[in-house]
Amino acid sequence: MSIADLSGKIPNNVNLKDDKRLLRALESWQPHFIDWWKEMGPEGFQADDVYLRTAVSVDREGWAQFGHVRMPEYRWGIFLADQEPDRVIPFGDNFGKPAWQEVPGEHRNALRRMIVTQGDTEPASVEQQRRLGQTAPSLYDMRNLFQVNVEEGRHLWAMVYLLHSYFGRDGREEAEDLLLRRSGNPDKPRILTTFNDPCEDWLSFFMFTTFTDRDGKFQLHALAESGFDPLSRTCRFMLTEESHHMFVGETGIQRVVKRTCEVMNQVGDDPAKVRAAGAIDLPTVQKYLNMWFTSSVDLFGGEKSSNAASYFADGLKGRFTESKYTDHVCVEGVYEMPVVQEDKLTTEQVPLRIAMNEILRDGYVSDCENTVERWNKVLEREGRSERLYLPNRRFNRRVGEYSGIRFDTAGAVITEHEWTKRRDEWLPNQADLSFVKSQMHQVLEPGKIAAWIAPPLKGINDNPFAFEYVRHHAS
Ligand SMILES: [Fe+2]
Ligand SMILES: [Fe+2]
Repeated sequence: MSIADLSGKIPNNVNLKDDKRLLRALESWQPHFIDWWKEMGPEGFQADDVYLRTAVSVDREGWAQFGHVRMPEYRWGIFLADQEPDRVIPFGDNFGKPAWQEVPGEHRNALRRMIVTQGDTEPASVEQQRRLGQTAPSLYDMRNLFQVNVEEGRHLWAMVYLLHSYFGRDGREEAEDLLLRRSGNPDKPRILTTFNDPCEDWLSFFMFTTFTDRDGKFQLHALAESGFDPLSRTCRFMLTEESHHMFVGETGIQRVVKRTCEVMNQVGDDPAKVRAAGAIDLPTVQKYLNMWFTSSVDLFGGEKSSNAASYFADGLKGRFTESKYTDHVCVEGVYEMPVVQEDKLTTEQVPLRIAMNEILRDGYVSDCENTVERWNKVLEREGRSERLYLPNRRFNRRVGEYSGIRFDTAGAVITEHEWTKRRDEWLPNQADLSFVKSQMHQVLEPGKIAAWIAPPLKGINDNPFAFEYVRHHAS
């Protein structure tokens, strides 16, 4: 079991104090990170005391401490899951050989690219969400937002640790660049499109933490299989925090749907009446679901990918729970992939390795289906016959095989004309976005909550909902 050192400037369980060069490098990056946090982190709340959990070790029990802290003073640390003795590369051409403790020269560029791409999403999401505190529906929700934000900050630390310790000078340069790109800035955008999309209301925030953080879960699982052991150990611990982010999203939408049901049970299902009563109508919830699911599905990359094939062949990036498969080499076998030829859907047999992105996406889509099922349980419990659904993965894509072709939400090819006619049925239009935004008002009184969302079933860490999760000091 690794020993956590919480006494220095950077809490860690990687023996930083014995590596003076690395310690100095990270300590010189730290003030740049804090400057970035103050500029791009939650706007208007930097002086508040927020009830946050902080990672203090990687023990199964008691890995986190709870307490009120000011966010710029949050103890962002470096924690890797414990090393598994004799771990071997679990897939690909090097299957069964000892896992690498150092970066193999021939895979240096690919690994750096993967770490930078993952690392870039972490500060990006903090930037996307930086104004949401100003419209938080309750102190409980505000706290959850900030919890997600500080942990994304810690995930950035995790990737920066890898860059600094294993990639020399270009690693240090990449670490600086991670603080220079800005979500949505056309001159220096974040690397992946979804992380440049605006996330300006809480319905988007809950959909984002449901669907986009869930992409994070799958990417981290695939990297946790990596033959590069430090990357694997880093990602394994990040997953512990990631599950809270998805909890925030999933229960957030559950509470929105619950509130909508309560209102529909009073005023009927006419969306205009539901809106007039201060709740978010179900068709709008569905449109937001469609928007954020499809954008997150894009994050898995092209359906046929030679990069994904070589990442797998080289033992750099595996599949979700690789150990559940029997064939870890995948040189034989095909994936039956729906493709469009002359405006018609047909099936193409794609070599397994080339289809690795799609195989990872399969797991993601079925995880999302389960989530939507759980949302539908709320509708069922409230005695409603309406149901939410997950659109087909081909719908509304901007990346890969299905981009540039129009599909309906069931995945059938449609014409541009039909798309234009039906687009507003499927995706939020300006009026929907403005309506949702108009419902977003900050609620600062402990125990109170906005009209469009139901309170949670329980509070955080055994505290009641009415606990003062954020002590807000008006500036
Ligand atoms: Fe993250
Ligand atoms: Fe996350």
